[in-house]
Amino acid sequence: MTVALIVAAGSGERLQADRPKALVELAGRPLVQWSIDALREVAGIERIVVAVPPGTSPLSGVTAVDGGAVRSDSVRRALAAAGGGDPVLVHDAARPLLTAELAERVIAALAHDRDADAAIAATPVTDTVKRVDNAGTVSETLERSELWAVQTPQVFRRAALERALDVSEEELARATDDAWLIERSGGKVIVVRASDENLKVTTPLDLQVAELVLAGRSSRARRQPPA
Ligand code: C5P
Repeated sequence: MTVALIVAAGSGERLQADRPKALVELAGRPLVQWSIDALREVAGIERIVVAVPPGTSPLSGVTAVDGGAVRSDSVRRALAAAGGGDPVLVHDAARPLLTAELAERVIAALAHDRDADAAIAATPVTDTVKRVDNAGTVSETLERSELWAVQTPQVFRRAALERALDVSEEELARATDDAWLIERSGGKVIVVRASDENLKVTTPLDLQVAELVLAGRSSRARRQPPA
């Protein structure tokens, strides 16, 4: 059975809100609640553990733990509180537009590739991406056809994730996602094509776009009631 970890302990300074990002409201619900609700619909998830900012009021139906100083430390703390469960799905609360369908596809992709240690949601990059030095001068243009923008959910074989997280605080602090901790030790990570709708809320503009996506989803649902 799968255990799901949601990391929600970031401060979200770029959102310029009066509270931690995960508690900022999106269409009447705290950001983190959207991910909890999506993961509750996923077949095979037995438990959801959420890493929250210290002092957060209890969230119903999930286990909450205090988050750490950096993102992967929050993952480590949530995993320690998770009890059993394999594989482990990790999701950022900053991506509230997660769907159960995407989470199920990522879980299934890992189940179908016996050699893989992790499967991660991602989209092919549409912008041209250049490497730029500190002085603002372009040093290189990367081959776009090989580039994917990585999202969460990321699903890991539990033993691989435990090994990957068993590193120094410095290494943990360098990780902007957990899959990197697997890649760097030679593990196999596969991508699962996700939708651009699974966006990351970082700025006030992202919050507005997320509201529009949700409005679009509910008007589509009204036009096409489930069979
Ligand atoms: O900072 P970043 O945008 O990479 O954060 C991604 C996710 O990690 C967010 O959902 C945030 O709440 C979470 N996070 C955390 N603990 C931290 C830093 C970030 O749970 N110390």
